[in-house]
Amino acid sequence: MKTKSIFVAISFFVPFIGAKAQLPAYMDESQPMETRINDAISRMTLEEKVAICHANSKFNTWGVPRLGIPGLQMSDGPHGVREEMDWSQWKTAGWTNDSCTAFPALTCLAATWNPEMAWIYGKAIGEEARYRNKNVLLGPGVNIYRTPLNGRNFEYMGEDPYLSSVMCVPYIKGVQENGVACCVKHFALNNQEKYRWNISVEVSDRALHEIYLPAFKSAVQQGHAWSLMGAYNQIRGTHACHNPLTLQKILKDGWNWDGAAVSDWDGTHNTREAALNGLDIEMGTASRKDKGIGFDDFTFDQSYLASDYLDLLRKGELPISTVDEKARRILRLIFRTAMNTRKPLGNMDYAAHSAVARKIGTEGIVLLKNSQKGLPKKYTSPLLPINANLYSHILVVGDNATRRLTEGGGSSELKVQHETSVLAALKEIYGDKILYTRGYAPGKTLYDRVEEVPAELTDSLRETAARMAREADLVIFVGGLNKNKHQDCEDADRLTYGLPFGQPELLKALLEANPAVVTVLMSGNAVELPQVADMPSIVQAWYLGSEAGPAVADILSGKVNPSGKLPFSFPVKLEDCGANSFGKETYPGDGKKVEYKEDILVGYRWYDTKNIPALFPFGHGLSYTQFEYGKATLSSSTMQAGGSVTVSVSVKNTGKCDGKEVVQLYIGDDKCSVMRPKKELKKFAKIDLKSGESQTVSFDITEKDLQFFDDKQQTWTAEPGKFTIYIGSSSADIRRKESFTLL
Ligand code: BGC
Repeated sequence: MKTKSIFVAISFFVPFIGAKAQLPAYMDESQPMETRINDAISRMTLEEKVAICHANSKFNTWGVPRLGIPGLQMSDGPHGVREEMDWSQWKTAGWTNDSCTAFPALTCLAATWNPEMAWIYGKAIGEEARYRNKNVLLGPGVNIYRTPLNGRNFEYMGEDPYLSSVMCVPYIKGVQENGVACCVKHFALNNQEKYRWNISVEVSDRALHEIYLPAFKSAVQQGHAWSLMGAYNQIRGTHACHNPLTLQKILKDGWNWDGAAVSDWDGTHNTREAALNGLDIEMGTASRKDKGIGFDDFTFDQSYLASDYLDLLRKGELPISTVDEKARRILRLIFRTAMNTRKPLGNMDYAAHSAVARKIGTEGIVLLKNSQKGLPKKYTSPLLPINANLYSHILVVGDNATRRLTEGGGSSELKVQHETSVLAALKEIYGDKILYTRGYAPGKTLYDRVEEVPAELTDSLRETAARMAREADLVIFVGGLNKNKHQDCEDADRLTYGLPFGQPELLKALLEANPAVVTVLMSGNAVELPQVADMPSIVQAWYLGSEAGPAVADILSGKVNPSGKLPFSFPVKLEDCGANSFGKETYPGDGKKVEYKEDILVGYRWYDTKNIPALFPFGHGLSYTQFEYGKATLSSSTMQAGGSVTVSVSVKNTGKCDGKEVVQLYIGDDKCSVMRPKKELKKFAKIDLKSGESQTVSFDITEKDLQFFDDKQQTWTAEPGKFTIYIGSSSADIRRKESFTLL
């Protein structure tokens, strides 16, 4: 009996073992990746190699059908998996089963200062992408926040290269665990939307390496991102999608990256440059002005890396090695994703993913201000968290309290399975105590601008809101920007730094009617706040996706103690910002060129070094509890070249409730032969402390943390001498200072 069953088992498996042995090497996942790639390349014709280098539709590419190699299916990114798009036109496909969970915008993720949040974000969005059968998710975006006018800052991770480097890595790993590639974007220097298609960025090597590249470098070297997207703009006169310096010399040769470089949609402009300068996959080309081919006549084999490329290869005018190299990288990407049979199946677990979105949202919301000063005597504590027992009528004012902020904004727009508004979530908690009025009107369509909203409507909405505020015990104003054109939206920048749609006048009227106003700002950008001195409580609530309402309500009600910290500074006025302080040349440029004259002094590096106080500084964020910092101790007052020093500091929660604090460590080079910022973020740790609890946080500082990019030697270096360590609760709230000497 036993013998018989062994025989049956063997005869059952033998054909499969045999079949496996006959698998071509490129299909055999037990073979090393490079063996598989070599095998596939050796079987492919020149035509097949060229065919995989460009799109065959709006979001997909060819594979090699003859060899059973599938193409790639791509999707935006980066805050949720985008609705299915039409095969060949810029419109949605009209499916009914493609709604997603919208996660908080990446500015909010950065504001958590918690890599664990980036990991759960990546894992959950990756599961949805995998379930929807996507191979490449177009995100995350890691361009640096240079000016508050950039319409796309909400898709990025703020102004600091270290913070964005740390935060993008777990996101990428979480997504790619699902067998879905991240396509990190937009490489590089895509720091404004105005003139984005052509503007050439003139930037120093130091600023490039110290500010604009580190997050991309971490994404590929630590996150092992499998693909990356070139930017629309030019860099020193050549388009970023085929730029020899950034794509070839730095990314591929310098960083040894083995992934595939994808163009931004319609970001390719030249066959020879694309062939020679490191672009692998051309996406989004939809016309060829240079050949007189319009949108209606265009077919994908007219892409730059299609028949033109094939012709030049056949004629021997471009080396075959260029297409072999591209094909190798594209096959690697396909094997890692579409042909990876071991990847998990993904899932569309809305309940679980909504919980993830809410957790990240509450952890990223920043309490900017919470002061009792100026409030009438009956308010015996700051307005937040809301003590509902004190109030009979709570007035919610503002269009953003009910607006779907997952719509609009450009390619990051999402079709959500659900989106709960702030108003709905507050009603859920405070019931009939809540009254609502709109307060201001942003216009009907995503493209209406402030000047297009009739003044009478603005006036009457404001007057109604002020009248109702007078009767209320507490006012919650939910405003900010939105996803309309010229707000937080792709392909255009903001027109002004001020709040749009008459909100400054509205805020003034509300505060005059009733000083007890809690302001909730929804935006991915800093905004001007002339009334700040009279605004007792201000919350920065970003764009929070499906769970926007519950996340905001968790913070306002005190269910969750706020612990977010700003990933970018709020300047008092626009001209305070480095990029906006030199005039048109440095922003937005003349349409052809923009010069980054502020150089390495971006964000707090500028405000600190130039002694310009920010309205709300980088790293700022309050809590409902207080944290006291003990003495900082150093393991040594000197650091040997190549050595390290450990810094420790104890932090105590001295308030009445539990809470989280982000301990931030900045380093300044006291004397150097080159200009350096006063201080730069080098480490941080988010700690969770119960009321009364203390914890000692230790950071190891190495010589690498002291280096600058030496543009003459083209290398990173640190000069011996004294360095100051600044430890604090924000870039401007420094609690401890210590120094040591690099020998
Ligand atoms: C955007 C990219 C996006 C792509 C595809 C482009 O216009 O710049 O970020 O991934 O479109 O939608």
